[in-house]
Amino acid sequence: MKIALIGFGAVGQGLAEILRDKGAELEAYHGFRGEIVAVATRSRGTLYHPDGLDAALLLDAIGQGHLAHYPDVYGLTRDWDAATIARRCNAGVLVEASPSNLSSGQPALDYCYTAFESGKDVVLANKGPLVAAGESLRARARQTGRRLLFEATVMAGTPSLRLALDALAGCKITAARGILNGTTNYILTQMESGQSYEDALAQAQAAGYAEADPSADVEGWDAAAKLIILAGALFGSAPALRDLDVQGITALTAADIQAARAAGERWKLIAQITPEGGVVRPTRVPLNDPLAAVSGATNAITYTTDLLGEVTLVGAGAGRLSTGFALLSDLLALHRQGGA
Ligand code: HSE
Repeated sequence: MKIALIGFGAVGQGLAEILRDKGAELEAYHGFRGEIVAVATRSRGTLYHPDGLDAALLLDAIGQGHLAHYPDVYGLTRDWDAATIARRCNAGVLVEASPSNLSSGQPALDYCYTAFESGKDVVLANKGPLVAAGESLRARARQTGRRLLFEATVMAGTPSLRLALDALAGCKITAARGILNGTTNYILTQMESGQSYEDALAQAQAAGYAEADPSADVEGWDAAAKLIILAGALFGSAPALRDLDVQGITALTAADIQAARAAGERWKLIAQITPEGGVVRPTRVPLNDPLAAVSGATNAITYTTDLLGEVTLVGAGAGRLSTGFALLSDLLALHRQGGA
């Protein structure tokens, strides 16, 4: 499978690392050969080679700060921008893993449309296109007969969407509720151990959990974006981001955290969506609530279903390999369906 990768930050590099380290295993056990043919970054260069780029050399080059460090090879193109790559490269799948713009979804949204129109499937880690124009994106995929997958956008590689859409198919899901942002859960966990908000946020950034602009995390908008994506996937339509009731963790003080602790409770940023609407709010949960035990960058989601009651999934919510794996899981799903 030939893959074009837009964005080569923590998530894109996570995917490249997995392809570098597990290539032989993926081929032997799944018959999957994932080959990155193009990489586009905003400020660190672009590369395209129709016969494939070497994942280890890509990681070396970006580790040195710029794709210009990738060695010269016959047939290598260095001057195609992301739009040209989306339109003209020979990949069967466009993976969009550049920073999320939750207002317009751009420029990623246009790359997705271009990819569909030039015969490519799309795999998203970028939440922007789904939040800003989810319905239109899904419609365009249908019209062009292409596939759109986005497991990475909610709970990284923990299969929150696949659980709901595949394993729970046949159940009616009436609500989803949980901890959907790794950065804030990490910060709250660290603050409970006495670390400052600033130090905990810096660590979350260094670990690759936080968005490029971490205000989206700490003000609750990243969790809200995930609710929009869940609503579109579970209920077939989603409210606008501005119609959600959203509050982040920035007003919580060290004293608030310690007061909850003294009362046998813990602050969690809880997000909930139903067909009627959604809310993101810091909430004090008792220590015997299963969500209280979800610590660090781990996330959790509980689906309320008609046939099974509540079904809860707990797992990694952010991070380089965890999110890189989500992309791999979508690529493997496309591979199993064939045609990419
Ligand atoms: N910034 C996000 C988080 C990354 O912290 O959960 C995963 O979407």
